[in-house]
Amino acid sequence: MTATLQTSAADTFRKAFRKSHTAAAYAPGRVEILGNHTDYNEGFVLSAAIDSGTYCLAARNGSGTCRLVAGNSMDQASFAADKPLPTPNHPWANYVIGVFAGLLPRAKATDGFDGLIVGDVPLGAGLSSSAALEISAGLALAQLYGLQPSALELARIGQRAEHEYVGVKCGLLDQISSIFGQPDHLVMTDFRSLDVTPVPLGKDAAFLMCRTHARHALVDGEYNARRKHCEEAAQHFAKVLAHPVLALRDVSWAEWEQHQGGMDPIAARRAAHPIGENERVLQGRECLAHGDLIAFGKLMYASHDSSRTYFENSCRELDAVVDAARGIPLILGARLSGGGFGGSAVALVHPRDVDPASRALQQGYARRISGPPCDIRPLRASAGARVLTIT
Ligand code: GLA
Repeated sequence: MTATLQTSAADTFRKAFRKSHTAAAYAPGRVEILGNHTDYNEGFVLSAAIDSGTYCLAARNGSGTCRLVAGNSMDQASFAADKPLPTPNHPWANYVIGVFAGLLPRAKATDGFDGLIVGDVPLGAGLSSSAALEISAGLALAQLYGLQPSALELARIGQRAEHEYVGVKCGLLDQISSIFGQPDHLVMTDFRSLDVTPVPLGKDAAFLMCRTHARHALVDGEYNARRKHCEEAAQHFAKVLAHPVLALRDVSWAEWEQHQGGMDPIAARRAAHPIGENERVLQGRECLAHGDLIAFGKLMYASHDSSRTYFENSCRELDAVVDAARGIPLILGARLSGGGFGGSAVALVHPRDVDPASRALQQGYARRISGPPCDIRPLRASAGARVLTIT
């Protein structure tokens, strides 16, 4: 995210609303490195904030109406400050309206605001442009209305906006990664305690982001269906295991193997994925602590296999990236990142191999998929969301 984008956003704000903004914030997208669909199962994830994100610029307008402009398309939306309801015509605006509604009970005044949203996280790429939008809006609006939600409250407000205004029953991974990202560190989150720990990446690890053009659309219900199966599976294990099971986090792989036969086969397959992923994240953290990138890469491949086989949230294009990666010795591991069903994969390489590995992966992908090429670029684990000083 460049300073230029921030400056041009200030100009666009002035042109759109004929005044200057008085509050601004930035929030990045995220990449999930290990731990797929574990967040809402109260498990573990290693993720990172990325170096693309969203700016939200805002100023109060003293009227009863909130006006929003999406700087990338110049689409405009508005809603009543005292009735922040979802709008069917401007899906992007619903994230902001939901965040405003989440903050509003704390606001003393209910006058409206003018807001501009502009960013460079590609949409539908599985890099969580939605969390970048929610968190940048949440931080800017909190500043505008003199509110001080804690980081976790802000994450929950973003999540609630997605549940209630967009219809995706997401976990907290995207919001937490966007808020807690640190340069050159992964974010290790325990989604039961919500403890967040930075994990140094070390000088030997670099990631490639591989964006397929398979459209990623969580709203289509597949995500919610997976979540429902996981919850059903947790209920089954709570009945058959002697210890308490509040979520799939409480079930080990050995217990899954022993007891999966007695349940609906689809729910059993779905449950295998977060259960295996939890164990892989804990192993992955150890591998990073010992600088064992080869073992970490193997866990990434195993994660993708589990997505493909058990969770069925991969697709032809994501499989093509990972299959191509397996044939390239410079690549240590690769897997789909985020919700799945399209979007992006992430690959692990040594920094010195970024260019040759990217080229080889691009060619390997093109040999498998005749369509738009896969966009591959190095990924920098980056700083998390922040309020911006107005100059
Ligand atoms: C999406 C959701 C997250 C998480 C991932 C899968 O990004 O928004 O909460 O469940 O999918 O790990």
